[in-house]
Amino acid sequence: MACYRSSSLSFFIVALLTVLISPAISAGDSSYINPPVNVGSRSSIASYCESWRLAVETNNAGTWNVTPSKCVSSINTYYIGGQFDSDYNLVARYALAFAGKVKNRLDGKDAWVFDIDETLLSNSEYYNKAHGSATYVSKKVQAQAFDASLKLYKGLKTLNFTIILLTGRNESRRSTTEKNLWDVGYSGWEHLLMRSPEDKGKTATQYKSEQRSKMVKKGYKLHGNTGDQWSDLLGFAVATRSFKVPNPLYYIA
Ligand SMILES: *[C@@H]1O[C@H](CO)[C@@H](O)[C@H](O)[C@H]1NC(C)=O
Ligand SMILES: *[C@@H]1O[C@H](CO)[C@@H](O)[C@H](O)[C@H]1NC(C)=O
Ligand SMILES: [Mg+2]
Repeated sequence: MACYRSSSLSFFIVALLTVLISPAISAGDSSYINPPVNVGSRSSIASYCESWRLAVETNNAGTWNVTPSKCVSSINTYYIGGQFDSDYNLVARYALAFAGKVKNRLDGKDAWVFDIDETLLSNSEYYNKAHGSATYVSKKVQAQAFDASLKLYKGLKTLNFTIILLTGRNESRRSTTEKNLWDVGYSGWEHLLMRSPEDKGKTATQYKSEQRSKMVKKGYKLHGNTGDQWSDLLGFAVATRSFKVPNPLYYIA
């Protein structure tokens, strides 16, 4: 990831969980399976944490609240040590390979859906700069793009896909969100769909499915969808192919 330097990842995780996209964070059900009590050696912790990350990405972990404390350090390493970038790059390459095979992209109706937070924009800088404060000071700080997401976004534009941005961010953040996206290199999307007052209280899956459904009714063919949460990808009016970006930091229902 391009711009993540602090090692205060445990704070980052807590802040993300408490603050980021609060209306949709699932309540209550803390369902991750704890590591064995006697995990003594470094390697067995590392092994458990690899398994935990895989379980999260495959959605086998289901609803979860916090990264297991034993895994904070290995998740940190995953994020800043290059493996996350490598994983995201491979997602982008699969997505572009699929996109290149979609026929007749000439009428503007061949569409690709993107989530924003932790998909096009990385919020990690926010939480570095907030220095432990859980208030959303962060909104004033520009979020960075991922190298892989920029490559994917621009590649899809070149392939004539119509881009639909679908975010859990509230409508009141439209102009700051647009500015942030432009500043880090995204442009030329067709729709930026945000939560309006009537979406209050809806789960992300419900809200996002409804929005996709509206796009389908407008005549768009949703070929691809890229998001860091399963709730970006599941539900109804799903895209032909879904591309899951890794996110072992927080979970949104
Ligand atoms: C994109 O669409 C234009 C016409 O609008 C066409 O000339 C061009 O070949 C298309 N590009 C690709 C990569 O399909
Ligand atoms: C969300 O945006 C709407 C429309 O701009 C605004 O009326 C409302 O106060 C906002 N809600 C929050 C929680 O910011
Ligand atoms: Mg997201």
